[in-house]
Amino acid sequence: MSVSRINSNKVPSSTRSVQLGKVIRTVLLSATLLAPAFSAGAEEAKPPLRLCADPTNLPFSSDEPGKPGLYLEIGQAVAQRLGRTVSHNWYKSYFGKRTVRETLLSKQCDAMVGLPLIDDFMGPAVIFSKPIAHEGYALVGARDRKLAGIDDLRGLRVAVQYQSTPQNLLAMRDDVQKVTVLSPEEGMTALDQGKVDVAFIWAPVAGWLNKTSYGDKYQIVSTEGDGLLWATAIGFAKASGALRDEVDGVLPSLQGDISALFAKYGVPNGAPVKFGQAAPATTSSIGASEPVTVGQATAAEKPVQTAASAGDAKGDSIAGREVFNGTCAHCHGPDAVQAERKIDLRLLKKRYADDMESTFWKTVHDGRPAKGMPAWKDVFSDDELRNVYAYLQSVQDTGGN
Ligand code: HEC
Repeated sequence: MSVSRINSNKVPSSTRSVQLGKVIRTVLLSATLLAPAFSAGAEEAKPPLRLCADPTNLPFSSDEPGKPGLYLEIGQAVAQRLGRTVSHNWYKSYFGKRTVRETLLSKQCDAMVGLPLIDDFMGPAVIFSKPIAHEGYALVGARDRKLAGIDDLRGLRVAVQYQSTPQNLLAMRDDVQKVTVLSPEEGMTALDQGKVDVAFIWAPVAGWLNKTSYGDKYQIVSTEGDGLLWATAIGFAKASGALRDEVDGVLPSLQGDISALFAKYGVPNGAPVKFGQAAPATTSSIGASEPVTVGQATAAEKPVQTAASAGDAKGDSIAGREVFNGTCAHCHGPDAVQAERKIDLRLLKKRYADDMESTFWKTVHDGRPAKGMPAWKDVFSDDELRNVYAYLQSVQDTGGN
């Protein structure tokens, strides 16, 4: 799943010294009772909460004085509740897991604010706080434009970011004119210059720019669906369970402050529209322990099927490839080329031999929701899925080992 840019922040690691601090405080307290004159100023300061952050990643973090960014400020608020200061470890931008490995898991950071709360995100090496926010993609357009779902995009020119979930989702909509942009910034510019009617882009940056550069001129509608919206949380290394519990303990009391911070940076954290439906769904932030539904694919309309003449295996496989690359490739890789073996679908034959076909149907119909594989039976017809199967058959790895 195209989860995103990660915004690195660190928080405290040394829960042991925290514990130790408590012991020392207790001892001091007793000493105070016994000998008040002796104790003045003797309390040992807790170590700072180490926040790792990208210095140039607004609205999330920055080293500009007076503009620390949403996640840094959340980290500061948490630290303050824990009676600690923060220190920063600036880490230049990165995308994804590599950063987490080089910072959090290398003990450069105590914690990172804003990691995606998804089952398979680096678990079990990384553990999470309760959700603090939701992040994802949004529809951005003029305030008087109706933007309640995908069908409102019909006939419009829509900016989509290169290789993003929105681009994949709209790929097969012939009735939407896609304009590819390379960044949310570029999407906002295209919108503002009238080159597109709507931008379907990464929400936090859209919101931030709307607030800081466009005078709040646009409405920003968060979308919900597979790869479109996910919960984020504070991540810790597995060994920092005690610290995580401590942070979870103070998060509920910070809910108001955190909402205010979202507003301050213009970052949407509200009710998303379900992709393809008119009725807005509700969402929640802190305190809600259930993550948002990222499991179910909500492709609004069945893709247009082309090129398949019935009974023609080659044609079926071509049509199947189109469905595959439009939808499945998002997780399984374009043309089913995927380095991660577990989801490498070129290995189906090797893996299941004679059970390949039955495994395909069962998995694709019902999904494996707990493992991040959506169910597709309500999205694609069996004919379409049969084409996908024909396509997958044509790309099976038949080599040795
Ligand atoms: C949101 C990501 C995602 C999308 C989109 C997705 N899959 Fe999957 N799929 C997975 C994951 C994750 C697994 C592995 C589940 C597990 O660990 O058992 C999987 C497993 C599978 C398997 C079983 C693989 C095996 O070796 O057991 C098949 C078959 C499959 N997917 C087909 C498809 C097809 C066809 C589509 C498109 C219609 C699709 N998937 C779209 C995430 C996805």
